[in-house]
Amino acid sequence: MSVLRSRFVQAVLVLVVAFGVFRFGVRPPAPWSVVTLYMSIVLLAVLVYVSSDSDSWRAFVRPIRTTLVDPDKRLVRLVLMVALPLLFGSYAYTQAAAKSEAPPELRAVHPAPPASIQFRGKELNIQGLDNPLRKDPAGAQKHVAAGGEIYSRNCVYCHGDNLDGKGHFAPGFNPPPANFQDPGTIAMLQEAYLFWRIAKGGPGLPKESTPWNSVMPAWEDRLTEEQVWQVIMYLYDATGQQPRRWETAH
Ligand code: HEC
Repeated sequence: MSVLRSRFVQAVLVLVVAFGVFRFGVRPPAPWSVVTLYMSIVLLAVLVYVSSDSDSWRAFVRPIRTTLVDPDKRLVRLVLMVALPLLFGSYAYTQAAAKSEAPPELRAVHPAPPASIQFRGKELNIQGLDNPLRKDPAGAQKHVAAGGEIYSRNCVYCHGDNLDGKGHFAPGFNPPPANFQDPGTIAMLQEAYLFWRIAKGGPGLPKESTPWNSVMPAWEDRLTEEQVWQVIMYLYDATGQQPRRWETAH
């Protein structure tokens, strides 16, 4: 196995094996930046090893030198002179070429709600509507508990255990499920607005919110009017947020 004795072949083999291990041998797969870093370290170590004494260094450089200057290596030289620039050129091209990208999305996250909606055949005026369950503070605890149950049955998969929009299904959706802990969601909305969103979901969004994008289901066929108000109470209670009030005319 005289080929394996060659310092040059040894060095190349070490690099190839190291690359194979870093790229395919470790679980979970290492990111490119880490592989590049490790490969530079291996390359440095290999160079230190082959140059540790002058005999070894000469043995390492010999095949490179003969390829570059020997008259009988003309053909190899020619092939390399064509292949290497092509290789680097194509790499540079793949890095620099424009890639096809999805167009940027401009969607209104909180569009103006309709003045009124149909809920199970009943006309509800969203404008100025308050949560009817709040009229009875003594029953609040009961409604919040019922709302919690509705939430964990229906909403937790997307909106998450902590109501932060990080449910199990969340990573698959764009736009992502709303994060109710964020002051930019329910804390700045009236309860009637939530009622509309929960009843009509993504399909009920107006055009400027590109309704076909949101996976938020429409709950009007599955939850009763009271259940929707209950889950809304739960959302505010569990996050410690206050709903926005309707501005009262003075
Ligand atoms: C299949 C996933 C999914 C489920 C299940 C789901 N949602 Fe959503 N929800 C979303 C997504 C995605 C959004 C953000 C896009 C949008 O506004 O439509 C959203 C938005 C909302 C909003 C609007 C928040 C805002 O800031 O405008 C409310 C309120 C809401 N969800 C409540 C609920 C409630 C209550 C339930 C359970 C009865 C529920 N969601 C179940 C995916 C889901």
